[in-house]
Amino acid sequence: MAGLGVNIDHVATVRQARRTVEPDPIWAAVEAELAGADCITFHLRADRRHINDRDAMLLKQTVHGRLNMEMSMDEEIVKIAESLAPDQATLVPEKREEVTTEGGLDVVASAKRTAEVTERLRAVGTVVSAFIDPEKSQITAASDAGCQAIELHTGCYANAYLPPDGGKPSADEIARTLEELQTGLAAGLNAGLIVHGGHGLTYNNVAPVAEMEGFSEFNIGHSIIARAVFVGLRDAVAEMKLLIL
Ligand code: PXP
Repeated sequence: MAGLGVNIDHVATVRQARRTVEPDPIWAAVEAELAGADCITFHLRADRRHINDRDAMLLKQTVHGRLNMEMSMDEEIVKIAESLAPDQATLVPEKREEVTTEGGLDVVASAKRTAEVTERLRAVGTVVSAFIDPEKSQITAASDAGCQAIELHTGCYANAYLPPDGGKPSADEIARTLEELQTGLAAGLNAGLIVHGGHGLTYNNVAPVAEMEGFSEFNIGHSIIARAVFVGLRDAVAEMKLLIL
């Protein structure tokens, strides 16, 4: 049975639209946990466009379940992560101009830095996960770098399911991307890694991925927060939890 990590960044995005104090992502974390979230995920970006340092500190103090910090390997952020010591850190690529994390981290190209950051975070007791595309070379590189976990990027499957350009979904592309995830999952498990999944997962598309045996956790943000606008965060989280059981 996979757990649910709820990404609360979007709550902070709404707050930052007015640079005010509401809605508070800390409240969102409490609501998500009350609804059964197994993990609270946040991304402290270098530009602090949503979650800020105050949020990160309060999340560390208040989250009762697992806390997962998505982070780049930027030195300033790594130092913050070392002092925060979240339960888990997920290493992601980060570009200032992107709307959200686009591709997976290229661990092959950044092997040395990934190994160094992983060692430093593991030294403070944080489980290190790398957000990567479901490719054998990336999985091997993450394992070689000392990561204990990987999060397979489910964005290609999500885009196949609902093409972002408004095009028609292709059954072949959906099947191909699911196959890639299945193969990546098996490779990750074979390498002795904990395997998570995330990005672009929704109430509509999560089932085929959730049915795959072996995923430990799914990190889901946009779809849950979008639904919460209409049904409230507690119901939105509880409904997603039922879908990934
Ligand atoms: N996993 C990672 C590594 C991410 O960067 C994000 C987006 O912040 C998510 C999961 C959640 O993606 P979504 O908001 O599309 O559910």
